[in-house]
Amino acid sequence: MKHFNTVVLDITVAILDFLYQGRDYPRFWVLEEIARAPYFAFLSVLHFRESMGLRGPEHLYLMKQHFEQSVNETEHLEYMESRGGNLYFIDRFVAKHLVLIYYWSNVVYYWVAPRAAYHLSYEVEIHAATTYAKYLAFNGHDDKILEILNDELHHSKELHDAMEMI
Ligand SMILES: [Fe+2]
Ligand SMILES: [Fe+2]
Repeated sequence: MKHFNTVVLDITVAILDFLYQGRDYPRFWVLEEIARAPYFAFLSVLHFRESMGLRGPEHLYLMKQHFEQSVNETEHLEYMESRGGNLYFIDRFVAKHLVLIYYWSNVVYYWVAPRAAYHLSYEVEIHAATTYAKYLAFNGHDDKILEILNDELHHSKELHDAMEMI
């Protein structure tokens, strides 16, 4: 499954890199819009499991963590909006359709293979951090982008811990 995750991610990144070359903030906005979806999906599945009486010992910890991550990703999204990342209809159109597919894929993936679903999001967070690091290398210091980069690294660490926990 890890190999499958890496292949899917590499293909998606190659397409987005091609579509968004030279348009950093629209690309960041699309990435942040998509990055939020797995956390909503994890929460949806955890809520459903709770309703079905399938609450494990790590359940509350994971619910709190994924809620905080989703709020933090929304803060990133709002920052990208303040930098004009969602100005164009085409970017909003692409993101809103991608996020629908990605959300439902993650619901199914997390339900049937939670460790593999965490691994995919872990890879996505590492990719996000790398993307912001490249931006800083080319464009110079930016406190807010550095803060967001550190948030993504923090998310990747939390996802790695969650993978070990379940
Ligand atoms: Fe983010
Ligand atoms: Fe993140």
